[in-house]
Amino acid sequence: MQREQWGSRAGFILAAVGSAVGLGNIWRFPYMAYENGGGAFFIPYLFAMLTAGIPFMIMEFGLGKKLRGSSPVVFSKLNTKFEWLGWFQVLIAATIGIYYVAVIGWAISYFGFSFGQDWGTDTNAFFFADYLKLGENSPTNLGDWQWHIAIPMIIAWAITFAAVFRGVKGGIEKASKIMMPLLFIMVLLLIGRVVMLPGALDGLNYLFSPDFSKLTDASVWSAAYGQIFFTLSVGFAIMLAYSSYLPEKSDVNNNALMTVLINCGFSIVAGVLIFSILGYMAAEQSKGITDVVSGGVGLAFVTLPAAINLLPIPYILGPLFFLALVVAGLSSHISIIEAVTSSIMDKLNVTRQKAAIAVCGVGFVVSMAFATNGGLLLLDLVDYFVNNVALLTSCLLELIVVGWLVKLSDIRQYVNRVSEFNVGQWMEICIRFISPIMLAVILVKNLIDTFN
Ligand code: PHE
Ligand code: NA
Repeated sequence: MQREQWGSRAGFILAAVGSAVGLGNIWRFPYMAYENGGGAFFIPYLFAMLTAGIPFMIMEFGLGKKLRGSSPVVFSKLNTKFEWLGWFQVLIAATIGIYYVAVIGWAISYFGFSFGQDWGTDTNAFFFADYLKLGENSPTNLGDWQWHIAIPMIIAWAITFAAVFRGVKGGIEKASKIMMPLLFIMVLLLIGRVVMLPGALDGLNYLFSPDFSKLTDASVWSAAYGQIFFTLSVGFAIMLAYSSYLPEKSDVNNNALMTVLINCGFSIVAGVLIFSILGYMAAEQSKGITDVVSGGVGLAFVTLPAAINLLPIPYILGPLFFLALVVAGLSSHISIIEAVTSSIMDKLNVTRQKAAIAVCGVGFVVSMAFATNGGLLLLDLVDYFVNNVALLTSCLLELIVVGWLVKLSDIRQYVNRVSEFNVGQWMEICIRFISPIMLAVILVKNLIDTFN
């Protein structure tokens, strides 16, 4: 049977950008930038983008397109000894897919609350006690089932399932063509309103004013590299699967460059959005900006709802923000589930429909562990392990296999054959030396931190 193909170049780029642009851009990036030296973070971030992000994306697009398969197929075609690395990546993708959907579920709930700011004034108590039911924090009730969390998660699974079930062109590409323009329009509308608020500029000043002393801090560089791999969805089966549906004539180098630049540009735009809001909030409450900033889950579900309470027309800006979060998350979730589904299809020779039912069915059941009031604790645990250990290990192994154990120059020649511009030798230097060395250092550092 002929492999499915993307219908157009724009369709492929929107799908790849849909995967890359996700929850990570909206709440992770702004906080990382702020924490790691503000404006000075952009130096390590851009360095990581150039030395790791772009070469890695070109390499994955090239491998997927050339070898026409999902991650286990790609690695086994490189050398049958490496097929396990493909499955390891699929396992990571599946794990991310199972907890990522919980955060999307929360965002769907909050989209509902945002029309009337149902979270009230104490958004912290609302999130932890009323929504997640962690109020008493009694360990005995951690397994209690929560329908109000399960139902939005079921909605998220249904949308992902519909896209993956219908296939590359009729499902994923179509969904991306609706979701991505919608996301960009929503974010632009939000920005257009919030940058004019009093205090917004103070927020931006905070985000962008560089603290150059942080540049000598190894953890800042580590944060930048970690963020680049996560944000670009490279190293765990996703971009390999997406690029395996590229038509013969597609320009890999150009597509990879577009995907990376759009994603990283979006992150900066999201940073402007979030910090304008935080600056306004600080001004309204006559506090310093450091007193209102928080990271991770707390930023999206505690701080921003409190900020939305203070905004003009909160019943419009609130739903816009949470719908943007939902759309960004869903398009990434679709890519994660596609990576798993395509691997099952390729290796077990089953139809897409059967594979999609099996993957979404099992994924759905396992993910329901997050619809209990132990969900947040479990999520923190899994998220920490995946981001700090599994993901970096997988990227490092992939760089070693592709950079050292097969002929990397063949891949470079292959991608240069149909391209408007050629990638030079620098790509091989980045893939063989710079990126793996940086990753190895970060990984060792994370492992030491974990056990300390
Ligand atoms: N790149 C996505 C983000 O920034 C995260 C993601 C992780 C997407 C894993 C797909 C797979 O949020
Ligand atoms: Na991203």
